[in-house]
Amino acid sequence: MAHAVLSGFQLGTHHITSPVVLAPMAGITDLPFRRICRRYGIGLTVTEMIASRAVEQGRERTERMAELDDDESPVSIQIAGSDSKFVVDAAHWAVSRGADFVDINMGCPVKKICKQVAGSAMLKDEALVARTIRAVVEAIDIPVTLKIRTGWDEPSKNVARIAKIAEDEGIQMLTVHGRTRSQMFNGHANWEDIALAKDAVSIPVIGNGDVVDGESALEMLRISGADGVMIGRAVQGNPWVLQEVHAAIMGLDKPAKPSAQERWDVVLEHMQHLASHHGVKFASKVARKHVAWYSKGFRDSADFRGYFQRLDDWQQQLDVAEAYFLSLDTEVMASL
Ligand SMILES: Cc1cc2nc3c(=O)[nH]c(=O)nc-3n(C[C@H](O)[C@H](O)[C@H](O)COP(=O)(O)O)c2cc1C
Repeated sequence: MAHAVLSGFQLGTHHITSPVVLAPMAGITDLPFRRICRRYGIGLTVTEMIASRAVEQGRERTERMAELDDDESPVSIQIAGSDSKFVVDAAHWAVSRGADFVDINMGCPVKKICKQVAGSAMLKDEALVARTIRAVVEAIDIPVTLKIRTGWDEPSKNVARIAKIAEDEGIQMLTVHGRTRSQMFNGHANWEDIALAKDAVSIPVIGNGDVVDGESALEMLRISGADGVMIGRAVQGNPWVLQEVHAAIMGLDKPAKPSAQERWDVVLEHMQHLASHHGVKFASKVARKHVAWYSKGFRDSADFRGYFQRLDDWQQQLDVAEAYFLSLDTEVMASL
């Protein structure tokens, strides 16, 4: 399949040099994970979603969620909420934390968020969408971006209208996850629906949903006409997929799979970053899911995961992970 040759785009004073974007994922795309992913060819990182009410409460955990590396740029802090006062306060706070852009979440399908008419529930009320965007755009001097689903449900799908409202109210980049809220994560993302947004506006549109490798990235870009690709779940335990997608888009050779040693080096570094960012106690919990993802598809991985999940001593977790990952010889890995 021919490559897409996307040369990035301008966002305020920043040129986004790579059209590959790491998706925000609550509880996953914390600073340690973004630090790992940044070396694999992404043009922009986004923090996990931060509820504007949580910002108001000023908890230490919220501050940690917005912690950025000094050299992490361009980076977006994602905020959510529907009460303009809180959302504007959160946007100011995001600017003070060093964000290059503020991303507003209108895609979250989680019941608790939707009950507060935030996240994807906002898509049902186009006046609220316009009002919220306008308030944030008027309040801060850095670019404001938006992430949406294609609508609340199939009959009320309004992706093109929301895209137009967003552009008219000053949004500078739009990300579209090609599912309605009622689809949750079921079925397959409708990449044709991303094209409806792309056709409606002239700001950059990033396509998202079910991109898992270079080939699917090219197919999504072909169908949607999007200016870039956002990847989420496929990066869990596999940050290397980012460089594969980057290479496919740029027409470069497919990068080699990491060796067992390289894989372990990344797992170890990730664990070390988790410990220094969250403290060993919490890192020990968070590491369970990441380390399990890194082992997915490899020899005896189910046994390894079962054993690893039960460990709560940090040093033991490091030792067990090292023994497992270094036992994966290159031959086994190449056949996967
Ligand atoms: C565990 C999890 C947490 C997520 N958290 C967020 C979030 O905080 N903000 C957001 O805009 N989207 C969030 N998403 C949605 C992803 O950004 C993305 O839109 C979705 O996973 C589809 O892309 P994918 O198929 O590449 O994973 C989350 C998804 C998952 C699986």
